[in-house]
Amino acid sequence: MTLAIPDPHVVVIFGASGDLTGRKLMPALYNLFAQELLPDQFAVIGYSRTPLSDEQFRSSSRENVKEHSRTGVDERVWEWFEPRLHYVSGEFDSEGAMHHLVERLDTCDELFGTEGRRVFYCATPPQAFVDIVQRLGEEKLHMDSRIVIEKPFGEDLKSAKELNRTLHEVFNESQIYRIDHYLGKETVQNILVFRFSNGMFEPIWNRRFVRSVELNVAEDIGIEGRGKFYESAGAMRDIVQNHLLQLLTVLAMEPPSSFNAESIRDEKMKVLNAMPVFEAVNVVRGQYTAGEIDGEQVPGYREEEDVAPDSITETFTAMKGSVENWRWAGVPFYLRTGKRLARRSTEVTVTFHDAPHMLFEEAGVSVPDANKITIRIQPDEGISLTFDAKVPGPDMQVTPVTMDFDYEDSFMTAPAEAYERLLHDVMDGDRTLFPRGDEAERAWQLLDPVLEKTPPHEYAAGTWGPKKADELIAPWKWALR
Ligand code: BG6
Repeated sequence: MTLAIPDPHVVVIFGASGDLTGRKLMPALYNLFAQELLPDQFAVIGYSRTPLSDEQFRSSSRENVKEHSRTGVDERVWEWFEPRLHYVSGEFDSEGAMHHLVERLDTCDELFGTEGRRVFYCATPPQAFVDIVQRLGEEKLHMDSRIVIEKPFGEDLKSAKELNRTLHEVFNESQIYRIDHYLGKETVQNILVFRFSNGMFEPIWNRRFVRSVELNVAEDIGIEGRGKFYESAGAMRDIVQNHLLQLLTVLAMEPPSSFNAESIRDEKMKVLNAMPVFEAVNVVRGQYTAGEIDGEQVPGYREEEDVAPDSITETFTAMKGSVENWRWAGVPFYLRTGKRLARRSTEVTVTFHDAPHMLFEEAGVSVPDANKITIRIQPDEGISLTFDAKVPGPDMQVTPVTMDFDYEDSFMTAPAEAYERLLHDVMDGDRTLFPRGDEAERAWQLLDPVLEKTPPHEYAAGTWGPKKADELIAPWKWALR
């Protein structure tokens, strides 16, 4: 299946002067362009409050692409790309505020032959989403267009329902793309291939063979100047509600009957429905204090810009959940995420039961650990299988060894950026990798009781989080450590 070139489009980015646009969206659009995966009839309009000229927007976009694109800037491609970048400054919250955007869209249609087809990308803080949708409705801009909503989709169940309701007043569900960039990662899509294209793993992918499943999104970075956003989000809203729960659904779902958007989303939804709501006793929240990362001193969370000195926002969460169905009943699912942890690693570890009869242990040989499959989402993308082997020599000693698949070694290329794939899919009308509205609401429902901010446990930057999190998984230890 090769990617098709989508129909002509204007992509309007709300929040165009923000971090996400500069670091992810512009580099992704540029790379799609460079790979000839965008049509000739194409333009981008950046929209935000900051007053900027087209020239200023183009030059800051170039800087951003240069710094953040995985391929750098090719002058010939840039020459072609640059005139397609336009900028409109404006408000979101008052009636009629987007009237001037309509004029600019018409101009782009004339200049680039984009045929009135638009993608509206909401890359603003979530508080602006409802206003944007209302403005688009007022100007009748929802016709023949698609809307992309960045995560977090709302801030709890109530606001997610409200957002879904507002969206549905203006757009049909088929026009709505809720982004969770984790689903656009090659290594997350590869979980589907690993599970459903191989005959050998699926028979053991269940409670009879699996002892536990551990999902980690560990970051060594802090909040990177996003104090204002992070204070109102915390790890639970920033990572657990979306990236971690989506990853879990992909790991735990039943084989879909076909590889189409609705079959896959239906199966993911069944997983969320089979999960009991999280309880406070199974959740450990943490917040980093000053510490050392890679030999450098870093400040504590409360010392970061735009963070209250007595903030109780969590920068770490560890949780234990379950999926109560025939496949998974009784298998603990451990979820853990944090900022300023010892190292950056997003990985999933599926740990298998011990052999039913420990032959070698009975004979006095110490047998190290259970068998594991580790899926490394990033970095060092790949999959490894850990099992026991005899250490060569006259005596009987057993040690764990690994068989490893490494993405880059096997394919001689680093995986593409998630946003490239997702932006392409929006223009191409493929919703497979986008969570549906009911998934977003159910995820909030699972977390609502544990969103309440209680004082978090402290952990020093550069460690694996508060000690208390180890009690959650005891008598085992976290596989990622
Ligand atoms: C974003 C979060 O959704 O994902 C950030 O808002 C986080 O806080 C980022 O750093 C992690 O994404 P990735 O692709 O680097 O794992």
